Amino acid sequence: MDLGIFIPIGNNGWMMSETAPQYMPSFDLNRTTAERAEAAGFEFLLSMVKLRGFGGDTEFWDHNLESFTLMAGLAAVTEKINLFASVALPTMEPAMVARMAATIDDISNGRFGINIVSGWNQSEYSQMNVWPGDWYYEKRYDYATEYVTIMKELWADGVSDLKGDYFQMDDCRLSPPPRDGGVPLVCAGQSDRGMQFCAEYGDYQFIIGTSDFDVVRNDAARLMSAAETSGRDVGIYVLFQITMGETDADAEARWDHYRGGADLEAIKFMTGQAELDTAGATAEKITEMQGAFNLNIGPIVGSHATIAARLDEVAAIDGVKGVMCVFDDYPVATQEFGEKVMPLMQSRR
Ligand SMILES: Cc1cc2nc3c(=O)[nH]c(=O)nc-3n(C[C@H](O)[C@H](O)[C@H](O)COP(=O)(O)O)c2cc1C
Repeated sequence: MDLGIFIPIGNNGWMMSETAPQYMPSFDLNRTTAERAEAAGFEFLLSMVKLRGFGGDTEFWDHNLESFTLMAGLAAVTEKINLFASVALPTMEPAMVARMAATIDDISNGRFGINIVSGWNQSEYSQMNVWPGDWYYEKRYDYATEYVTIMKELWADGVSDLKGDYFQMDDCRLSPPPRDGGVPLVCAGQSDRGMQFCAEYGDYQFIIGTSDFDVVRNDAARLMSAAETSGRDVGIYVLFQITMGETDADAEARWDHYRGGADLEAIKFMTGQAELDTAGATAEKITEMQGAFNLNIGPIVGSHATIAARLDEVAAIDGVKGVMCVFDDYPVATQEFGEKVMPLMQSRR
């Protein structure tokens, strides 16, 4: 089973919490994480694209580096690990992204791939006047289809003449191509349409993990059925938030501590809820909101042995080729996971 890390390109990683580690994103932080991941034997790193934060006391994701330039930097200082940058399709032309990918493919000696983000959060795009319009919600995977077709043509043939509904190429050229005539594409759509797109054009599909592995099994089955229809081999990577401790009790206490500090303002922004009247809010409402403090990424919490055993269960799910980890304190947890969890995983032998 492959292991990857969703690296901290935004402040505070994936926890909207005042009691979780507070940090700004920086090249140094991501470089240290990447070097430790490579030393530990992780197979890949992925950075997201996020262009507008959620605010709140923790200024959640108000601070974000840019995905392609970060990965180009990491490509130059790593040797083995695979690197994926994310593109938000409305923000960049496919011919430019194809060329950026060919360049990072060269810097990294063929270790680079792209996460295709069709774009769901209008405010990230309307702030720079590139939101295509509300038709885009319905059509974004059709748009993505033309987008990746242009990139694939440019990589494989050096030219695209595609005349589509959204893009008009006119003898558009690209050279030099990536070394394998293309770079891997990963996608993370969770809708049926998103998964169909990945089954037709992607190499790996990300699924958001939950603690209930039956839900993961169902989502994996949805992707596999789409891949059967498209006749392509698409691997599944599942996203989990890993919280480790020397004992299960230690790890659970740490998790509860993070959850207790949930930044309700930031969560409210994310969920688009009306003003939360904390004075009048029921205890259930606050508890429910606290539950979203890590963007609902499935938590795996426990001792090193517990985490290894849970991940082995995930590895046994049909279609799963790997797991991508979200951590609390990245440099520390990356090393700890490599030293104390990986050696216990049967699925890594
Ligand atoms: C692992 C993973 C990475 C993602 N990366 C990004 C990202 O970088 N930027 C973003 O705006 N959305 C990101 N998303 C959201 C997806 O691209 C997708 O829009 C979302 O899961 C909803 O699925 P749908 O588009 O099929 O409705 C990510 C989701 C997952 C699970």
